[in-house]
Amino acid sequence: MNELDNVHVVQHPLVQQKLTAARDVRSSSEDFRRLLGEIAMLMAYELTRDHATELQEVQTPLARAEGAVLRSEITLVPILRAGLGMADGILRLIPQARVGHLGIYRDETSLEPVVYYNKLPPGVARTDVILIDPMLATGGSCVAAIAAVKKTGATRIKLLCLVAAPEGIKRMRRAHPDIMIYTAAVDSHLDERGYIIPGLGDAGDRIFGTE
Ligand code: PRP
Ligand code: URA
Repeated sequence: MNELDNVHVVQHPLVQQKLTAARDVRSSSEDFRRLLGEIAMLMAYELTRDHATELQEVQTPLARAEGAVLRSEITLVPILRAGLGMADGILRLIPQARVGHLGIYRDETSLEPVVYYNKLPPGVARTDVILIDPMLATGGSCVAAIAAVKKTGATRIKLLCLVAAPEGIKRMRRAHPDIMIYTAAVDSHLDERGYIIPGLGDAGDRIFGTE
């Protein structure tokens, strides 16, 4: 298996331009939040490209027409906190989606994930799950989140992030080789504190103005 076999990098020029602006240290929280929402919406468009549809007839003012609707419901699962910054953008595109929440933070010393909240909607196993977190760094948080989603019996799961580190991609591939990762960038490496370089800093702090 190739290093990036389970990774889809969304190269769309609009996504790349907005990611560049989001990386900029001069972007305010307001700008950062707006950009994250816009990027998430564009990336969700790309991520859902292969979702199955079924025929639905519709009556236009003039005649019957054959249309299409998504075959399966979608469940969005943002990882708190930073995943929330991407959820609204995706909900504007897929307003019928259900939303589950997973609260996970990284222990600052061990960098290992701590799961503190799990609220997934009933019936999630029947749906297409989109797990959302802008940062895939060591991969610990996403690996734990996917394990929690898989526990429900869900099998159709995709990960949507904004910036991924090679270390996180590798850990994800080892733990969950069946999961496709959609990202706008694969960056260089992690620093000694587990931050993605060049990355965009602490996504949660930039979204919520904490620090
Ligand atoms: C950030 C980010 C990811 C995690 C990535 O969350 O949003 O969830 O770190 O790191 P990992 O791949 O090494 O696990 P953080 O722990 O800062 O929590 P927060 O979103 O509540 O600020
Ligand atoms: N979490 C972040 O928010 N940023 C990083 O670079 C790594 C983990």
